[in-house]
Amino acid sequence: MQIHLYDSAAQVGQAAATLIAAQIIAKPDSVLGLATGSTPIPTYQELIRLCKGGVLDFSRVRSFNLDEYCNLPVDHEQSYHSFMRQQLFDHINIDPANTRVPDGNARDQAAECASYDTAINQAGGIDIQLLGIGRNGHIGFNEPADTFVYGCHIVNLTQSTIEANRRFFESESDVPRQAISLGIGSIMNARRILLLATGADKAEAIRAAVYGDINPKTQASILRTHPNVIFLLDKASAGLL
Ligand code: F6R
Repeated sequence: MQIHLYDSAAQVGQAAATLIAAQIIAKPDSVLGLATGSTPIPTYQELIRLCKGGVLDFSRVRSFNLDEYCNLPVDHEQSYHSFMRQQLFDHINIDPANTRVPDGNARDQAAECASYDTAINQAGGIDIQLLGIGRNGHIGFNEPADTFVYGCHIVNLTQSTIEANRRFFESESDVPRQAISLGIGSIMNARRILLLATGADKAEAIRAAVYGDINPKTQASILRTHPNVIFLLDKASAGLL
């Protein structure tokens, strides 16, 4: 496990984008695992800049997102489908047919979960997985629990996550209560993992992930057992290390 510290969130984004860019240059049909939320936005801005500048070509890249809310229309402005279009896909030359975000409105949720894991395997697995971290140590929407769940599954969001995501909705009651998420096994199967954290509100989660027990109460703690994981942290999120 490597940990790199940076002065600012912008630098964390530049470092992550540099590693993703190197991956795409070395393997133009790379499979990216992508995240939403505030943390990866500087990374996406840098990837857009590199693409517009002719340095990066996404035409053969494939991507799978970590998660999506359940029971939120895909065109809702806070859906993760919308987020990915607004923050990245609409600004780079990726083929929309090569991008997949789980369907949180699937009638048959079990079938959607199975087909999502199968599609990742059929694409050859994820080359590089981008992760943020929840204040409660979640990765994807794998919330604190008694077990690690292997595959894609439906999650009941915890109160902490509902409160953290309330800032994106008009009121707390508008925040969806369920999500579909890649499981810990699917995340751990990625060949390389980049976990990004910025801001003091992530410091306790980072401390628990790095120094605490490897325990599903802090889902990110399992990343320490991955052979190729890099934490990219700003000083505030690393404040308790
Ligand atoms: C998003 C995701 C979540 C976020 C986490 C941090 O796709 O899977 O695990 O990475 O909730 O969110 P932000 O970056 O908004 O603090």
